[in-house]
Amino acid sequence: MHFTVNQLEPIGAEIIVEDLDALLGDVDAAEQILDLLDKNGVLVFPQINLDDAQQAAFCRHLGETVKKDQKGWSKEFPEIFTIAMDEGRKAGAYMKGSLAWHFDGPTSDVLPKATILTGRVIPDPTEGHTEFTSTYAAYDRLSDEEKERFANLKVWHSLEVSLRRSEPNPTDEDVTRAQAEPPKLHPLVWTHRSGRKSLVLGNTALSVEGMDEGEGAALLDELMDRATRPEHVYSHTWTVGDMVIWDNRGVIHRAMPYGEDSGREMHRCTLVGDEAIQ
Ligand code: OGA
Ligand code: MN
Repeated sequence: MHFTVNQLEPIGAEIIVEDLDALLGDVDAAEQILDLLDKNGVLVFPQINLDDAQQAAFCRHLGETVKKDQKGWSKEFPEIFTIAMDEGRKAGAYMKGSLAWHFDGPTSDVLPKATILTGRVIPDPTEGHTEFTSTYAAYDRLSDEEKERFANLKVWHSLEVSLRRSEPNPTDEDVTRAQAEPPKLHPLVWTHRSGRKSLVLGNTALSVEGMDEGEGAALLDELMDRATRPEHVYSHTWTVGDMVIWDNRGVIHRAMPYGEDSGREMHRCTLVGDEAIQ
């Protein structure tokens, strides 16, 4: 199927789709999208305006989807989760964690492969941007000496840590929810099946195994700092109807602040991953 692909800087590509039916149903289209995602890390589909049925169909077409029957998840389309910050609907302080750099599914054995986010209510386009940076590129920019020094380091990732970092006074419900996922030890450097390497960095990263706590935290901070310098970041300004997909294995992301009562609403699906971090 035919797409127009416009490169974004410093990471990502904008995809213009002429035939929506082909995008949702054509077997080749799914392969092309996954291939483009692999090459570009982030794909932006400006104002493609999918509704829930179309978003769910598109995601199922790309691969196996994560489905849940929990607060925030759609009853009709169990792969769709609503991102909203307001009291009535928010999935607890959990959502605030998305304001710090992270990857999705940080404590799972196999990370979700990709996340598909659509902008549904964008009350103020000057806030709530979503930012992305490549963790493949962050690895590539290390010195040879660092590559060697970091090769066997392992890092503890904890949802409770990221919760407490973003919400100093979490509710019991939030803490229980975060603790339900035990901390996970991930390698700092992920050698992917493809042979490419990326850094595994995020707001869930707490300490480096076998390293003094302060020293480990300082190293993680420094690496995060270098990975997310403005010149390495693509910042997406949302318009209603935009869809953005990111490769959750080689990209980290964050939401920029927005009013909790602004009404900003995004619908999200994630694809089940097929490769453990190793
Ligand atoms: C997510 C996420 C960022 C945003 O959906 O996983 O982090 O801008 N969203 O809402
Ligand atoms: Mn996220």
